[in-house]
Amino acid sequence: MAKCVKVEKKNGEATRQKLIAAGAFDPSFVPEADEKFVYFAVKKPVKGMKIVERRLRSRERKFRSIQEALRGKLSEKELEEVVRSFDVVGDVAIVEIPLGLQAKEKLIAEAVMEVHRNVKAVARKMGPMEGEFRVRKLKVIAGEKRTETLYREHGAMMRIDLAKAYFSPRLAFERKRIAEQVGKGERILAMFAGVGPFPLVIARKQPNVEIAAVELNPDAVRLMKENVKLNHAEGSIKAILGDVHEVVPMKFRGWADRILMPLPKGAHEFLGDAFLAARKGCVVHFYHFGPVGKAAAEAKGMVRKAARKAGRKVSFLEERVVRPYSPQAEQVVVDFRVLD
Ligand SMILES: C[S@@+](CC[C@H](N)C(=O)[O-])C[C@H]1O[C@@H](n2cnc3c(N)ncnc32)[C@H](O)[C@@H]1O
Repeated sequence: MAKCVKVEKKNGEATRQKLIAAGAFDPSFVPEADEKFVYFAVKKPVKGMKIVERRLRSRERKFRSIQEALRGKLSEKELEEVVRSFDVVGDVAIVEIPLGLQAKEKLIAEAVMEVHRNVKAVARKMGPMEGEFRVRKLKVIAGEKRTETLYREHGAMMRIDLAKAYFSPRLAFERKRIAEQVGKGERILAMFAGVGPFPLVIARKQPNVEIAAVELNPDAVRLMKENVKLNHAEGSIKAILGDVHEVVPMKFRGWADRILMPLPKGAHEFLGDAFLAARKGCVVHFYHFGPVGKAAAEAKGMVRKAARKAGRKVSFLEERVVRPYSPQAEQVVVDFRVLD
C-alpha cells in the first residue's frame, strides 16, 4: 500500500507539478487513474491535500530472479525445473518451458516480464531449430502478440523476426571479433547471412567495404534489406537471395578477400565454394560443431581435405570455442588464410 494524494483527473497535472515542487512526489510508484480520480504516491503529507491509502504498482524491481518471482506460485520441485537462462533479443524473451510445467507457462512468462521490465513479449520454444532456414516454431505466451523486434548490437540496428529467420545474440562476440580484423576496401563474402548481423556489424566498423551477403530464406533477405537501409549501409552491403552453391560459382569466382561461413552444422559442405571464391591471401572464418575438445581438430581436418581437393594451400591463423552447445558438443571457429 502506498500513501497517495487523490485528485480529480482534470486537476491531475497541476497537482503533480505542485507535489514535485513541494518535494513530496514519490516516483517509485506508478500514478494510477480510475474513471474520475488520479492517485499520486507521496513521500510526506502535503498541506491542504488529503492522503488515502491505495495499492499502486511499484516501479522498482521487486524480484531479482524468476525463481524469486514465482515463489509461492509454484512448488519447490517445480521451481527447480524452471529454466534459469533464456535469450532476450530486443524486447522479446525466448524461453524453454519444461514438459511438466506447460500448464504453468503463463505464470512463468509473467515472471520473466516482472523481472525483466524491458521485455514486452515472451515466446516459448516449441521445438528445435529446423530445416535449411534454421528456424524454430515459437508460441507467444505473454505480453504483446509478436515475435518481431528491434535489436541493437555494436551500434548496428536490426529488425528481427524470431519466428521467420534465424538469429542468435550469442554470436555477438564473434561479429565484433571479425569486424575488428576487417581492413579498408575488403571484398567480403558473407555466406548464410540471415537478417544480416555479420555484414551490418562489419559495415558499421568499416564502411569502406564491399560485402556480398548470400542467404536462402526469403524472409531473412527481406529483413536484411530493411536492415541495410536502416543502417544506411547500401554502399557497403548487397543482400542476395540464393543458394551459396549456386550464387558463388556464378558470380564470385576468385572475388573474396574474406569469407564468413557461420553455418553451425554442415558448413564443410560449402568449403569447395569458399575455395572457388577465395583470392590469394583470402581469410576464411569457418564454423563447426563437434565433440568437446576435438571440434577444432575436426574442423581443421575438413579444411585440409577440401583445400587438397581444390588444389589450394592454407595456413591456420586462429581457433576458438564460440560456445558450448551441450555437455558433449561445442561450436568452434577456425580462421585460415588461402595462400595461393
Ligand atoms: C545459423 S544461420 C546464420 C545466420 C546469420 N549469419 C546469423 O549470425 O544470425 C544459417 C543461415 O544460413 C541460411 N542457409 C542455409 N543453407 C544455405 C545455402 N545453401 N545458401 C544460403 N544460405 C543458406 C539459413 O537460411 C540461415 O538463415
